[in-house]
Amino acid sequence: MIGNSRHLLTLEGLLPEDITQVLDTAAGMKEISRRKIKKVPTLRGKTVVNLFFEPSTRTKTSFEIAAKRLSSDAINFTASSSSTAKGETLIDTARNIEAMNPDIVVIRHRYSGAAMMLADRLDCSIVNAGDGCHQHPTQGLLDLFTVRERKKTLSGLKVVIAGDITHSRVARSDIAGFTAMGSEVVVSGPPTMIPEGAERLGARVAGTFEEALDGADVVIMLRIQLERRSGSLIPSMREYARFFSLNPGRLDLASKDVLVMHPGPVNRGVEICSEVADGGRSLILDQVENGVAVRMAVLYLLCGESDEVAG
Ligand code: CP
Repeated sequence: MIGNSRHLLTLEGLLPEDITQVLDTAAGMKEISRRKIKKVPTLRGKTVVNLFFEPSTRTKTSFEIAAKRLSSDAINFTASSSSTAKGETLIDTARNIEAMNPDIVVIRHRYSGAAMMLADRLDCSIVNAGDGCHQHPTQGLLDLFTVRERKKTLSGLKVVIAGDITHSRVARSDIAGFTAMGSEVVVSGPPTMIPEGAERLGARVAGTFEEALDGADVVIMLRIQLERRSGSLIPSMREYARFFSLNPGRLDLASKDVLVMHPGPVNRGVEICSEVADGGRSLILDQVENGVAVRMAVLYLLCGESDEVAG
């Protein structure tokens, strides 16, 4: 269970102690992932199905690795090579997968609410691996884990999230997670990419990117979601980069020990320049490593039978 749920659909509504439980469990999982033999029997006999209806590199691979490190059977479903291509609906596909008795279904889908719909209709645990512009809770958790690992606390930090906030499920999960843990979240981007009611989500909207960066402890850069037609919201990529690209000059405005993060995929030269993405303040690849540990923790907490992390 995470909080009082056997699903992980959103970070909204999770209590600080629920989040802390996942992060503490992930710390143990990271230790396992760094061993010479990276496998424990904790979820032996369990089945995890990854249902991905949208492209993914990091999330899909890390869920598969996470499931296998815990000794569960991991099955990958890819929409383009499935009967979805013949017109089968999401719910019919999910019911057919459920008939094979999985313990957890991990779903990524372009529709906001797809994970919630499965949770309402299926008996197994559902993990949201990204639904439309709504939520990407495991990304939010791995971002929290990555920052906590470096800063030792999340409370009182100034966390800037910049870019295409409107279409970002990562931004929504990060805002929910960081504010729950006592961070101040500031969002920045072109006005067309800031959702109405951003403040209601718990974030402050900065007037300029430079104002947002002033004294920031963490800067999370987001790509423009061209697959959700965000390209039409800005005059040109060049114009966007002029005002919103994270370059060394802008990074100097942040705190001297600022952490630079990005959920990936990175569009170099657009939202972030290579010098910063590959520089000493960047934790982009640490996020990827931590993604495995956090997903191990989530799978374990949702379907592990023992309270102890098997060694
Ligand atoms: N961060 C993230 O969701 O990356 P993928 O789309 O590659 O899974």
